[in-house]
Amino acid sequence: MGVIVTGAGKGIGEAVALRLAQDGTDMVLVDVDADALGQTLAAVEKAGSSARSVAGSVTEEAVAAEAANLCIEAFGTLDGLSHNAGIQRYGNAATTTVEEWDEVLNVNLRGAFLMARAALPKMTDGTGSVVMMASVQSFATQQNVAAYTASKHGLVGLTKSIAVDFADRGIRCNAVAPGTVETPMLEWALSLSEDAEGVMDEIRAMHPLGRAGRPGEIAEVVAFLLGDSASFITGEVIRVDGGLLSRLGGTPKKD
Ligand SMILES: NC(=O)c1ccc[n+]([C@@H]2O[C@H](COP(=O)([O-])OP(=O)(O)OC[C@H]3O[C@@H](n4cnc5c(N)ncnc54)[C@H](O)[C@@H]3O)[C@@H](O)[C@H]2O)c1
Repeated sequence: MGVIVTGAGKGIGEAVALRLAQDGTDMVLVDVDADALGQTLAAVEKAGSSARSVAGSVTEEAVAAEAANLCIEAFGTLDGLSHNAGIQRYGNAATTTVEEWDEVLNVNLRGAFLMARAALPKMTDGTGSVVMMASVQSFATQQNVAAYTASKHGLVGLTKSIAVDFADRGIRCNAVAPGTVETPMLEWALSLSEDAEGVMDEIRAMHPLGRAGRPGEIAEVVAFLLGDSASFITGEVIRVDGGLLSRLGGTPKKD
């Protein structure tokens, strides 16, 4: 079983690769950060999986094609795609620069399209599975995340389109929508604030479970959706958000 994992160098993508290695899944790992990619590759092989790596950006058609071809060459089949590569930039619809907008949409949405476009024609009929990394910001938003929110809303549309268009081949497509997760992306976001600990307290309080998620908790759901246990699930977005989107703000009126 050969699976492509993007954004595999760090954070959620790395956790997905390590989780799939527990099952002995063969993988092609993709990341723009060659050093981080090398570290994940070594860890996955140490855990007993065979893996190959493609150091490059998911925004490049050639990188997507190389990953799909390599999976077939090395492992004989392409059974899954776990697309995690993503970036965050801050700004509203007036302050986001055109360059920032293009950068975010290019990685988060066009990258997902390019990876799926390269993988789907080669994917195993009957059992193939695509899992996109969406976000709670696929459903709601905060201030100053216009480009990211637009990209993650778009990713849900792409997920549903792939699910409908490839159902006749028995290929499924789903997405996972995490709340805040403790990854280098979160560390970077906190580093932009003068009161990182205060922001982290707010983040914990925002989630009814009282904490941020761990990358392994997201990876577990990705592994489930990639596998046959999820054989009748397609076009779905599973929130893994500690209850974040279940709670309305405000104080209820008491009797
Ligand atoms: N961390 C969170 O709180 C959170 C919450 C919801 C959704 N997500 C989503 O989960 C995914 C992973 O986030 P994370 O927190 O692990 O991020 P991260 O920054 O910690 O790790 C992302 C990885 O993707 C790689 N990457 C970035 N751009 C790339 C590109 N163009 N091509 C190939 N690789 C690229 C990075 O080098 C890095 O290794 C993203 O799509 C993100 O939007 C994260």
